[in-house]
Formats: sequence, structure tokens, C-alpha cells
Amino acid sequence: MPVGQRYHIETWGCQMNAHETERVSGLLEAQGLRRADGARDADLILLNTCAVREGATGKVLTRLGELRSLKESDPHKVIGVLGCVAQERGAELFRRAPHVDLVVGPRALASVPRLLEQVRTTRHLMDLEHYTESVLYGHEQIRRQDSRKAYLTVIEGCSKACSYCIVPFTRGREVSRPFANILSEVRYLVERGTLEVELLGQNVNAWRDGGRDFADLLREIGAVAGLRRIRFVTSHPLHFSQRIIEAMRDCKQVCNYLHLPPQSGSDRVLRRMKRGYTRRHYLACIGALRQAVPDVRLSGDIIVGFPGETDEDFEATLDLLEGARFDSLFSFRYSPRPHTTATEFTDQVPRAVQDGRLARLQERQRQIQEVANRRHLGQIYEVRVEGPSPKGHTLCGRTAHGLMVHFEAPRESPDSFVNVQVTRTGIHSVSGERVELSPGTSPITAL
Ligand code: 5AD
Ligand code: SF4
Repeated sequence: MPVGQRYHIETWGCQMNAHETERVSGLLEAQGLRRADGARDADLILLNTCAVREGATGKVLTRLGELRSLKESDPHKVIGVLGCVAQERGAELFRRAPHVDLVVGPRALASVPRLLEQVRTTRHLMDLEHYTESVLYGHEQIRRQDSRKAYLTVIEGCSKACSYCIVPFTRGREVSRPFANILSEVRYLVERGTLEVELLGQNVNAWRDGGRDFADLLREIGAVAGLRRIRFVTSHPLHFSQRIIEAMRDCKQVCNYLHLPPQSGSDRVLRRMKRGYTRRHYLACIGALRQAVPDVRLSGDIIVGFPGETDEDFEATLDLLEGARFDSLFSFRYSPRPHTTATEFTDQVPRAVQDGRLARLQERQRQIQEVANRRHLGQIYEVRVEGPSPKGHTLCGRTAHGLMVHFEAPRESPDSFVNVQVTRTGIHSVSGERVELSPGTSPITAL
């Protein structure tokens, strides 16, 4: 596309998608394109999409419908679908929405500039390859949203075969990014003022390079001078190890936060989901972590109403909540997805039953969170300021263990670190007051 034209990207889905939008934006800007103010204003409109549940795909299809009139009023606009829905639906998108010019899967995003060169002469271009070299990208040109807190890919794809999940189909087999590339990106970012990195992967803790595993990676990134916080998402219980626990315990930059989805508390359902572990293994992982890192915050994902889930199975999941005592939980109604084996199960759970279970689960989790958050009362935490608070306080930010804190303070420059004493706790966040610490004392999570 000609230099100076404007692009607009809309993004759905996980952190990986948010980061891939940053990567595509960088590629486009390297070609001389500029960011537009919105879809109307843009010569190129890209939807970077999520297919994890039917509803996510549905939103993309609705949005494509809305864009039809924009294309009719200005046929020069180029419209592309990127990411997981591109992979899920492929050429069907062109039939369904002929105003779409470009369909590019999540492992082929580096092809976008090449396809844009051809798009004026050839319509309906598509690249759905799962390129293994997708992890070998130049990081210097990434157009990051936030220079203080940076996303960083460490592993792409998923080689598991969970029976409900479309991601192995959309994102292809797992490939680890080489250690040297990751380290040079971390150093590059820290030299330019990044304080916090979030390491990304569908199974981030499965990362390997030669003899190094994810625990080594955490320790080596932790040794980069000037970096204050390291987060990582999403971990798989099968790849969670004592070595990772020790790296979390020993390395002060690694945040005491773990997102470890159990998906269900019933062994029978876990087997049918093909998760590869038992409820006992899951509880042992988090038990060992809490023993080594007592102030860790823990979150998880749970699917309710998986095919064949009985009342008894669901009770086992509720019981897992009692044992796990998550600090936060993402819970979903099972949604049948194409290219997954669970769609073949004939014992689908009726929608009303799923809804009832989801409501019960969420209510129980609210009660657990309310109690769990009370342990923060009176504590002084180091908070990285994120911006104005939506809750009537002046500012908000997060502790190293990921707790959202609203607080009163004179307006600091966003992204600085302040110490806050928690004076009230709620279900999803806490609030407090800024405190100055006398020299020699340190807040609980200070470095
Ligand atoms: N239905 C409902 N939830 C799903 N997830 C993944 N696939 C499905 C599905 N088919 C949930 C899992 C996963 C999270 C990102 O989305 O809990 O951890
Ligand atoms: Fe959605 Fe999963 Fe794809 Fe992320 S990897 S965009 S959560 S389907």
C-alpha cells in the first residue's frame, strides 16, 4: 500500500493477540503507513480476532457485517481478518463477506506486508500457513502500546489436544523462541525504560531451548539489571515444576502471581477434556507453590457444562474452589468449537443447566475472593501506577502480585512506583492511602 496511507486495527482475545497487533502495527509502520483515528478514517482496516468460544467468533462476524457499508461507500478501503477466526474460517470468510480482501492466520502475520503489495491487483488473498519461523521476528520495529510494561512472546502455538479447544488448530504446533532472541529483546527494552515484561505463550512454562527450561529463562531474565517485574501467562499444570517454583521464590523480579487453569475439578471430566493431569496433581502444584511463596496470588480458568458433566462432577469443581481459594477466576460456559473432538460427544449439557452452574460457581468464587482479599488489609505494597482510577479515587495501579489498588495521592506521573497501605478490601480490588516509608523500611513487595 502507498506510503502515508492510514491503518486501523481492532483486537479481540488474549494478551498474545494484543501483542501480535503491536507486531503487525510495527510491520505496517515500517512500510510507511500511519495509524488512523478509527475505521472511517482508515485506508486499511484489520480485525485481529479470537475464536476461543462461539461468541468470540460471532462478534467478529457481526463486525464484518458492519464494515460492509464502509467498503461500499469507499471501495478503495482494504479490509483484512487476522488471527484465530481467519484460521478457523479460512476461505469461507470470502464467501460470507466478499468485502474482505485479506485472511491471515496467527502464525502467518509476517506475510501481511507482502500481501498488501498484491492486494490492489488480486483480491481475496489468504495465508494460513503455520510458519515455524513465526517466532524469529525482528523486535526493534514492534509498535508497543506501553513502553514501561512490555509484552514479549516466548513460545507460540500449542501441541496439546484438549478436546474442547480450537487453539491447537488455529495456532499450530508449539515452537519456542530462541533464548538469545528473547534475552536481546529484554535488554533492548530495559535500555529504553521498560520496567516490567510479561512473557507470553499458550503454554508459556513449556518453553525450552537446548538444555534450558522455563525456570532457567526466568532466572536469566531476572538477572537483567534494571528490570523490575517479570510476569508470565498462561501456565499449564503439566509443565509446572519444582524448578519453576524455586525460580519464583528466589528471583525477586518474578512476580508472585500465577495463572494456572484447572478447567475442572472432576477427574472424570479432566480425562474427557484430555488435560493429562488429575485434580490431585493440580492441588499439589498450587500447594507446593504456596508453601514456597506464601504471598502468591493465584488465578485460574474453569469451564462449566462440559459434555457429560454431571451434578456430581460439578460439585467436585465447586469443591476444588474450596481447596484452591483462587484470588481471581475466569469461568466460562462450555462452547462447542469446530476442529475439536468434544463436539463429537453426544451428551451435551443443556444451556439452562450450564447457566445455573456458572451462576453458582461465580457466586461461590465471589465469597472466596472477598475473604481472600481481607488478608491484604493493613499491608503496605509497592504499586506501579497505571493511571487515573475509575472508582472515584485519584489513581490506580497494581502490586507485584497483580492486585489492583485504588488510592488517594497527589497525581504522580503514570507508571512510577508508590507505596500504598491497604485500608479497604473488596471483591475485585482494594483501596488505600499512599505512605512515605522511612529510610531502611521496605514495603512487602519492594525490590
Ligand atoms: N468453551 C469454553 N471455554 C473455553 N476455553 C477454551 N476453549 C473453550 C471452549 N470451547 C477457555 C479455557 C481457557 C480459556 C482461555 O478459555 O478455560 O483456559
Ligand atoms: Fe483467542 Fe485463544 Fe486465539 Fe488467544 S489463542 S486469540 S484466546 S483463540
